[in-house]
Amino acid sequence: MPHLHRLGGMAKDYEKIYSKPELYWGKKPSELTKRFAELAPEGVALDLGMGEGRDVLYLASEGFEVIGVESTQAGVNKCERQAHEQGLNIKTVVADAREFKIAKNKYAIIVAMNLFQFMHKKEAADICSRAIAGLKRKGLFIAQTFTIDDPSYKPHKRKSHEIAPGVFRDGSGVIYSLYNYGELLEMSQPLRPIYYAEYDYFHAHGGVGHWHGVADLVGKKI
Ligand SMILES: C[S@@+](CC[C@H](N)C(=O)[O-])C[C@H]1O[C@@H](n2cnc3c(N)ncnc32)[C@H](O)[C@@H]1O
Repeated sequence: MPHLHRLGGMAKDYEKIYSKPELYWGKKPSELTKRFAELAPEGVALDLGMGEGRDVLYLASEGFEVIGVESTQAGVNKCERQAHEQGLNIKTVVADAREFKIAKNKYAIIVAMNLFQFMHKKEAADICSRAIAGLKRKGLFIAQTFTIDDPSYKPHKRKSHEIAPGVFRDGSGVIYSLYNYGELLEMSQPLRPIYYAEYDYFHAHGGVGHWHGVADLVGKKI
């Protein structure tokens, strides 16, 4: 399981991070999911790489039947605990999103918030095309990923082996990808883009504030 990820030149072990009592990503849903989920039809939502489940919990509270996929057991445990406390019914799976079978034409929403940097771009593209096939008509794909504007780009360029454009493998074999302008949008074709943006934003979580360069995508299946 890909528990050990590299961010900004630093290894992050999400299994360990999520096993602490406090919520690393906070209670609030992601801005993108909160803003756009209402444009989706009713039905089943799938969150790939859900972390501690902030979007899973939000989507469940909005009436979606939700399945959350996450590679860490600690993340899944934390999500389940919150769901229980909030009286929400959700389904969670400890799995690698690259191997998770996405049923065709089933989902009203598929979310992948900051998952694609933790794999080879070819694997992310494969998840995107399976997610698109997994959406029902008018279903929404909501994704965010880091871009080459992220501060982690330069340290990776300097220290890691670039095995494909923007795809880095460090000394311990961990793969980390930073997306070029327009790349996420391209991966989401032929969805109709409802929203796409590339920008820098200041993020305060885990007690430390820092900048990220991100791409946001919301696409609809027509
Ligand atoms: C940056 S965090 C974002 C978590 C969540 N989407 C959110 O926005 O709060 C990325 C998450 O993806 C998970 N992850 C990374 N690679 C994965 C994979 N191949 N399959 C499933 N989960 C993965 C990590 O464990 C981590 O929880």
